[in-house]
Amino acid sequence: MERDTDVLLQEERIFYPDEDVIQRALIKNWEEEIRKGKDIEKYWAEKAEQFEWFKKWDQVLDESNKPFYKWFVGGKINLAHNAVDRWVETDKRNQVAILYANERGDERKLTYYELSREVNKFANALRNLGVVKGDRVSMYLPMCPELLISMLACNKIGAIHSVVYSGLSVGAVVERMNDAKAKILITADGTFRRGKVIDLKSITDEAMLQCKTVETVVVVKHTGSPIDISELSGKEIFYDRLIEGEPADCEPEQMDAEDPLFILYTSGSTGKPKGVLHTTAGYMVGAATTMQNVFDIHNGDLYWCTGDIGWITGHSYVIYAPLLLGTTTLVYEGAPDYPDPGAFWHLVEKYGVTKFYTAPTAIRHLMRFGTKYPKRYNLESLKILATVGEPINPEAWMWYYKYIGNEKIPIMDTWWQTETGMHLITPLPCSPLKPGSATKAFPGIEADVVDDQGNPVPLGKGGFLVIKKPWPAMFRTLYGDDERYIETYWKDIPGYYKAGDMARKDEDGYFWIQGRSDDVLKIAGHRIGTAEVESAFVSHPLVVEAAVIGKDDPIKGQVIKAFLILKEEQKLRTGLIEDLKKHVRYELGPVAVLGEIEQVEKLPKTRSGKIMRRVLRAREAGEDLGDTSTLEE
Ligand code: WTA
Repeated sequence: MERDTDVLLQEERIFYPDEDVIQRALIKNWEEEIRKGKDIEKYWAEKAEQFEWFKKWDQVLDESNKPFYKWFVGGKINLAHNAVDRWVETDKRNQVAILYANERGDERKLTYYELSREVNKFANALRNLGVVKGDRVSMYLPMCPELLISMLACNKIGAIHSVVYSGLSVGAVVERMNDAKAKILITADGTFRRGKVIDLKSITDEAMLQCKTVETVVVVKHTGSPIDISELSGKEIFYDRLIEGEPADCEPEQMDAEDPLFILYTSGSTGKPKGVLHTTAGYMVGAATTMQNVFDIHNGDLYWCTGDIGWITGHSYVIYAPLLLGTTTLVYEGAPDYPDPGAFWHLVEKYGVTKFYTAPTAIRHLMRFGTKYPKRYNLESLKILATVGEPINPEAWMWYYKYIGNEKIPIMDTWWQTETGMHLITPLPCSPLKPGSATKAFPGIEADVVDDQGNPVPLGKGGFLVIKKPWPAMFRTLYGDDERYIETYWKDIPGYYKAGDMARKDEDGYFWIQGRSDDVLKIAGHRIGTAEVESAFVSHPLVVEAAVIGKDDPIKGQVIKAFLILKEEQKLRTGLIEDLKKHVRYELGPVAVLGEIEQVEKLPKTRSGKIMRRVLRAREAGEDLGDTSTLEE
């Protein structure tokens, strides 16, 4: 860790924005905007004015019950009304809201008018299924228009959605659905991936055997493959049948600013995933404001975020913020390298994408194929590039800057989390950039690097990344577990939000994010807990104990390295390795990328029996084991 950071801090290149970038930018003076943001209540209240409220708020921020902050107290609003119906009354009515495309070359365009009709029909259908305000509705869907429609339909009627990433598998689906006590599940027959149709329905079928709260399973016929009716359980209803004859208007539920909007599960230090709960108005304000200013959104933009809607990036920046701003969002179902590694650039040219947001892992992957693919396409429509999900190494940054942006387009390295709901540390288009640094906190946000007592550390020294003041799109709790919310985020460093990342600040006040300080891995930008992987391993009949660490990987950032104690007499044969890989994949899905598996006789533990992953990591890296005084033996 130490070494990595020294390398980062030697990165001294600074890139100043071109004059025409500044001319176009909504915010032209970064420092001045940061100064404006010092008065957080005033700043965010101004931003909240952009929406149509049924009733304005009485109080911007309520801090009387920390850390359970409340924003826009007393306000009444509806997200779907603001993201969709509001635009139907303007000249955006016939503008494309959602441009869906997939790797097979299919496309579907929904204007704001068409989207509003679809959302309303499905909202009415949900009401007919008995869904009322506060009920939980889960989605296990690929990137398809019905996913966006059903999320918006939930908002319309005040149901709380909980989207499960379609790359997660049975074990993960069951755990999330049961924790949320979902009443409805919306799923599809399958998804397209690298020329194949991946079956989702059989995963749902299996999960459903263990999800007792679900009353109805709505099935989207997405791939066109025939569905075997004999395999239906009786709870299913097809999406197209369900909306047949439903009226295309629907009265929006008047939501309290603090009414729950969605739950999104993410990984933490323990095996049980955390149900991150976001509420309505603050989330809308934070997501829309950051999107507008970081991506510099204007009329006529064609915006593309390649993230999956199953993660927070997709929630905030594929669907909600773009629609709240009335822009056109490209929703792509496919991989960056299929049918060839020019897939992304082909779409940028084909549709004239103006703003492009992706993950460093995708850039690193595409870099391997050289410059011939980006050079084949005309990328001149691009005006802003951006990244999210993990630190971007300067090499990947430079490649992106040179070959995609033609050395003219600024790169927004956005740091944020499922919990934060919105970008918190990020440049703006007018900011001077340093490759590998997410630069500074967004206006209205106060971030710092501190020691374990909460004292700021000297510039250049590593410490814990904290957020010192509440922000509108912050999560409000972990679903059903206030205790864990306090324990995980607010207890170690009282008064501040502890992000779980290590960071440094340089002499210009720029943040350099170093990676997680807890037992969470980032594999190809996906967040996964070591404990989740360990419990997947030990649910295999031949595994007694497991310890998992992240191992550096040049493309994926990290992959899993597992240390296993096997049942007596068992040896780690090739057949068993394959079997274990399959098993973990079945439990967790393809996100759990296994690098290496090693058989061990013992695992390093503290006297109280906790696995010391730190020792395993140090051993793996050939480093000094550090303080081992708490080691059992
Ligand atoms: C990491 C994704 C460095 C970080 C939006 C954080 C980043 C975790 C960046 C949250 C970035 C995200 N630079 N690291 N620009 N963006 N991270 O919840 O470790 O899936 O804590 O949210 O991703 O992951 P999550």
